Amino acid sequence: MGKGYGYGKTILFGEHFVVYGLPALASALGAKTTAIIDRIPQKGYELIDNRPEVPGYKKNKYEEQQISIKNVLKFMGVDTEKQGLRITLGGDLICASGVGASAASCVAIARAITDEFKLNWNDARINEAAYEGEKGYHGSPSGIDNTASTFGGLVYFVKNMKGGPNTMDTTKLKNAVELVIGSSGITSDTKEVVDAVKKLKDKDPKWFDGIIGEYSKLVAKGRQALEKFDLPLVGKLMDKNHTLLQEITVSNEVLDSMVVISRKAGALGAKVTGTGRGGNMIALTPGVKLRDKVASALQAAGYEVWKTIIGS
Ligand code: MEV
Repeated sequence: MGKGYGYGKTILFGEHFVVYGLPALASALGAKTTAIIDRIPQKGYELIDNRPEVPGYKKNKYEEQQISIKNVLKFMGVDTEKQGLRITLGGDLICASGVGASAASCVAIARAITDEFKLNWNDARINEAAYEGEKGYHGSPSGIDNTASTFGGLVYFVKNMKGGPNTMDTTKLKNAVELVIGSSGITSDTKEVVDAVKKLKDKDPKWFDGIIGEYSKLVAKGRQALEKFDLPLVGKLMDKNHTLLQEITVSNEVLDSMVVISRKAGALGAKVTGTGRGGNMIALTPGVKLRDKVASALQAAGYEVWKTIIGS
């Protein structure tokens, strides 16, 4: 039996902009997906998916998940026509758009395979295998999700647009910080939303360049603020990042409403995280007291929330 895990992730700055080679900052979450690989006598693979989910998530992603698993197996040189496998997924990461659920499962499976077949793959190679898996969910992922999911901690990531190695600096925050994740309950399709943003960009490149210019300044300040542990500034910049995400149409009414409720309840900042047009938002809420207050305000408005931490 081989075992593996992958962290959930949240993007603090830069979803969508990262696709165009701009820097982004992501953090692993406290929650993980786990995978167990068992050899079975039949050919092919059998999947038992016990991960907790937002209703409909697993059904929605099933076809993509099959492509993803095949990509990982192929990349790792495992032929299930020769050796059948059972893949069992579990863990405490609640599957939803925006928390890196797909990346976490790819990383967990890759780690379980290297464990079962004694491949001795290090994290860098596990990350490469998970990236192949991510392609099953989204034709050309930036790679930020699998990177955060593999290495944990805080990740500063820049996609290499020429196809060479990506920039990825991993670090830790001075202290772990409490975070509230609010769920829209809607499962979004990353490929669809990324394609929609690209269409807007192609239609009006000048307008998009202006937004990119603003985002570049914002992310540079965001990195410094995180390094200095200046959380009020991090929060303000998250708010600004949300405005830019609204402009590129990846927020929606539900996400905007959760962002407003969080800010009113005292969150230092709040924004869409990940794909958007559904999925999740995050609120920066240092201290258990503030986290509980913001979580309660969202719950009182009928939203599902998770309380977690970043930067540990
Ligand atoms: C999805 O978590 C993040 C996106 O930027 C897509 C990607 O980076 O591949 C929307």
